[in-house]
Amino acid sequence: MQEQLALNKFANLRVEQFDALYRISRLLNSATYQETLVRDALDLAIGVLNAERGLFANYEDGRFSIVTARNIDRKDIRDLSEFSSGILNQVISKKKPCLYHDVQSDPSVSQFTSVQIHNIKSIIGVPIFVGKKIRGVILVDSRENRQGFTEESLDFLGFFSNLVSLSLDRISRMESLQDENQILKNQLQATGVIPDMIGESPAMRKAADLIHRVAPTDANVLLFGESGTGKDLAARAIHKLSKRAQKPYLAQFCGNIPDSLLESELFGYKKGAFSGAITDKKGLFEVASDGTFFLDEIGELSPATQTKLLRVLENQEIIRVGDTQVKQVDVRIIAATNRDLKKLVSEGKFREDLFYRLNVFPITLPPLRERRVDIALLAKHFMQKYGAGQIRILPETLRKLEQCAWPGNVRQLENVLHRAIILCDGNTLKPEHVIIDEEHQMEGFSGTLKDFEKMLLLQRLQEFENNRTKAAKSLGVSVRWVQLKLKEMGHD
Ligand SMILES: Nc1ncnc2c1ncn2[C@@H]1O[C@H](COP(=O)(O)OP(=O)(O)OP(=O)(O)O)[C@@H](O)[C@H]1O
Ligand SMILES: [Mg+2]
Repeated sequence: MQEQLALNKFANLRVEQFDALYRISRLLNSATYQETLVRDALDLAIGVLNAERGLFANYEDGRFSIVTARNIDRKDIRDLSEFSSGILNQVISKKKPCLYHDVQSDPSVSQFTSVQIHNIKSIIGVPIFVGKKIRGVILVDSRENRQGFTEESLDFLGFFSNLVSLSLDRISRMESLQDENQILKNQLQATGVIPDMIGESPAMRKAADLIHRVAPTDANVLLFGESGTGKDLAARAIHKLSKRAQKPYLAQFCGNIPDSLLESELFGYKKGAFSGAITDKKGLFEVASDGTFFLDEIGELSPATQTKLLRVLENQEIIRVGDTQVKQVDVRIIAATNRDLKKLVSEGKFREDLFYRLNVFPITLPPLRERRVDIALLAKHFMQKYGAGQIRILPETLRKLEQCAWPGNVRQLENVLHRAIILCDGNTLKPEHVIIDEEHQMEGFSGTLKDFEKMLLLQRLQEFENNRTKAAKSLGVSVRWVQLKLKEMGHD
């Protein structure tokens, strides 16, 4: 019966309306992105109905928000109050298409201010359903000097809204799958579960305390620390302890990536922005909306990307590559670097304004050589992590670990222990199982000359089994110098 009714209505449509429906159905079928789809479809509908303006409003939790609103010149209208909220509400409560012919003399709608201000003559409002729920409303209106709408226009818009509803449903399912996919991929790249941050040293306690304090706020955090000191771990901990814990956590490594690639990852792109951009694509900032975004190696950003990032921090706004439309995002930024950002600022390589925006709450993760008391705890933690909790670490093994300079910090300690466990065939971990890879000693080292001095001295002492005379000789210094340095380091 209902289908019969629909078919009858279909027969009433004019040829150009048929044609428009056909074009719209093709458009909807090929579209892969909500906003473009709605905007193009609305333009078509405005044209066919000879309407003045068109609005597609989202309806969620009793509130409307503009998805897109266009005038006859295909320009965007940004202000929802330009349209009558009274009529939007009527469509919601009636749950069916509504046509208002001569609105100025219709007492049920003429009292709405926007109707009076814009001198509106007729309006059509149709609900957009997703399943049984109203997801939005399409409104088109026409002013005094135009031809008014008819029942036929109402039928047309009814068909139109059915088509839009169907493809919105399809697209929103696809988009949420894509978002989920991007989050999962990003998490796979990062290191899985968060192990707790181990460390009882004053330096670590201070860092942990700062993390606990800043986590529940929405402040941006800047993490400083040499490679392997736990910046990644700290960023995740901040997210986990924040109000955003249930929302996405995404990370992007900014070093060694061509600018264009990094920008399209971060900000997304519009179809046709460059060869290969065959569909619109959301950037990670959009996917991370309401959550936390970790920008690793921020010191490596190019000046152009720095400027774009500043926009995100100042206005919570992004623009996709190749697009002109500005989008709002709500992300908390955690950034990390092992470089001296202040120095980069003074050399003109890093924007000062960006530095101050990021540096709202700096936290420095101490190098392992400055918190040797944590080595025993960390060693135990990693032994357990690698399923070797039952293996006993001999005191001399621990001493050897404690004396190493650890330029690769906790990551290096973890690797050395992992190797030691594999080499260890009994129940005790002996010094000979601990092999410190000399080749990689300098990798990632970004300490001062003084740090290097310390590191080298400790290494030589280890090599010569704590024989200070031999160590001094190999370094070309006096034994007294060695003693002095050890005293400075608090070793004697
Ligand atoms: N305090 C800690 N407790 C336990 N594990 C830690 C701690 N700090 C670091 N780790 C571990 O050490 C490894 C390196 O840490 P992480 O990746 O966070 O370092 P990073 O500072 O981000 O290094 P890079 O600058 O090279 O990216 C990880 O496996 C991490 O789990
Ligand atoms: Mg890292």
